Amino acid sequence: MSNLKNFPRVSLCHTPTPLENLARLSAYLGCKIWVKRDDCSGLAGGGNKTRKLEYLLADAIQKGADTVVTVGGLQSNHARQTAAAAAKMGLACELILQDVVGVPQQDYYHNGNLLLDQLCGAKIHRVTVEQSSELVVEQVVAELKNKGKMPYVIPLGGSNALGSLGYVNCADEIITQSHALNVAFDHIIVASGSAGTQAGLLAGLIAQHQDIPVLGICVSRSGLAQQSLVESLLKQTLSLLNIDQSWSHGKVKANGDYYGDGYGISTASMIHAVRLVAQLEGLLLDPVYTGKAMAGLFDLCQQGVFKPEHNILFLHTGGSQGLFAYREVF
Ligand SMILES: Cc1ncc(COP(=O)(O)O)c(C=O)c1O
Repeated sequence: MSNLKNFPRVSLCHTPTPLENLARLSAYLGCKIWVKRDDCSGLAGGGNKTRKLEYLLADAIQKGADTVVTVGGLQSNHARQTAAAAAKMGLACELILQDVVGVPQQDYYHNGNLLLDQLCGAKIHRVTVEQSSELVVEQVVAELKNKGKMPYVIPLGGSNALGSLGYVNCADEIITQSHALNVAFDHIIVASGSAGTQAGLLAGLIAQHQDIPVLGICVSRSGLAQQSLVESLLKQTLSLLNIDQSWSHGKVKANGDYYGDGYGISTASMIHAVRLVAQLEGLLLDPVYTGKAMAGLFDLCQQGVFKPEHNILFLHTGGSQGLFAYREVF
């Protein structure tokens, strides 16, 4: 048990998100595959960041903020959901969006998440790869303060301990749904980037004394580097929940075999996974996160790491809006 209920929270998410069996994909892969539909979390296309923003925006409002500032890549799903959440809460939103190398050239700079950020009324500050986005954040915050505004900075991906609480809630939903379906999950698979989703999920499972392994598929760094990032955030999240940090011991698993040449850079296995899941299940993944995580799941089933009798839960963290930026890749 934890003190989760004590944290202020605004309501942005359609929860509980569905948890479904993927029968045709299971038959294809020879493992029992389930999906937790956090792509259906409801806000401007949904995705994992909406759960984090319920806590982050409650904190912003409590602190008297009138403007939310956050940072990400040019096609950041986090930025889109932040822009939408700020709009819904009546706050202004400024996004510091950095160019990403090795990505498609045509729609990346106009379509997908970037189009939706603008529709939601966010002000966009473009940052080149050579510039430091932290420095630009500082400048934007200083300018806002000079104008008498009250900015609230949300870190990359909404990944601090407060944001991770959103995934403590998701862990609770998964446990309830697993009981209702009478299915015991043997593994949970999730795309892991700025780490808050995996850290929050693990904190929620630890709080409920559940031992389901959670495997993070890295989207931007090696397994070892990701593991230490998630571990550190997991400890901070457990502390915030008044749970002994030592319970994090041995819980964090990350696999860096599937992100290819870097963040946002397409891989053949991602393209194959996105296509196949769309064609077998009518389920839309994304090119940067869930497509690579699903490519990992395919490979681990094919290698026999996941066995036919295993129930595997894929956490769909959203992002299909990004497909429109990657048209030429598909
Ligand atoms: C679609 C999608 N999946 C997964 C992630 C990774 O989540 P986290 O940054 O909490 O590790 C992100 C982060 O931006 C995302 O947009």
